[in-house]
Amino acid sequence: MNTTLKDSPPAKPVKPAKPAGKPTAKQANPEHSRLYSKFIPAYEALWPLIVRRRVLRSIEALNITPNAKVLEVGIGTGMSMPAYPKHAEVTGIDLSDDMLAQARVKIEREGWDHINVQPMNAQKLEFPDQSFDFVTTFHVVSVVSDPQEMMSEIARVVKPGGSVLIINHFRSENPWVAKVIDRADPFTRHLGWRTNVSYGDVVGELPLEVKVQPKSSPFSLFTILHATRLEQAA
Ligand SMILES: C[S@@+](CC[C@H](N)C(=O)[O-])C[C@H]1O[C@@H](n2cnc3c(N)ncnc32)[C@H](O)[C@@H]1O
Repeated sequence: MNTTLKDSPPAKPVKPAKPAGKPTAKQANPEHSRLYSKFIPAYEALWPLIVRRRVLRSIEALNITPNAKVLEVGIGTGMSMPAYPKHAEVTGIDLSDDMLAQARVKIEREGWDHINVQPMNAQKLEFPDQSFDFVTTFHVVSVVSDPQEMMSEIARVVKPGGSVLIINHFRSENPWVAKVIDRADPFTRHLGWRTNVSYGDVVGELPLEVKVQPKSSPFSLFTILHATRLEQAA
């Protein structure tokens, strides 16, 4: 399938920025939102309508090679799974057993022997260094309590020259827009995500060459980042 990436203007390199903080004791931790345990039917009904197409097209554009080892971090209910080619070996991890139960139902129903899912913390991946050719993560960076730790784990487990695909809402680079959206953060944390995570904060210092895919619309809430694992820390 053709993707918008091929038709887009050249991607911009990422600059490091100041680090994003972990939630303080007084702030809600999005990771613990009941959206990812008690309200899964509502999540499944609405969320794919907003994000599914972008996720599936972005995975297809990776052109995952035969026998490639792929990790999806925070796979949730497995909305992305139809896009992974059967010639790859896909592992999905997530903190929520309830989300993974939904993913397992889909795997069983579709007979997707190339995908397995398991409970694991994105901030403490239980895989050796340089285990995967591709790592993907969609809408998780702003949910975990420590986004820098999660990204540093991803950089650790991807092979040198391997690819990382991240789709997430990130803080606007326009200071006025960012200021307005930041005001929603205390509210959205309760729902299950943060609005004030900047991509420079989470990927800027890692041994990754990161490119930002230009947004399909200036009103799009989501940013697509493509990263390649460098041989050594810069
Ligand atoms: C907004 S959902 C996105 C799920 C899926 N990637 C998608 O796009 O539909 C965020 C997911 O991150 C998971 N999550 C939150 N904190 C996590 C952590 N520390 N480790 C692994 N998964 C985590 C949640 O359980 C939830 O499934």
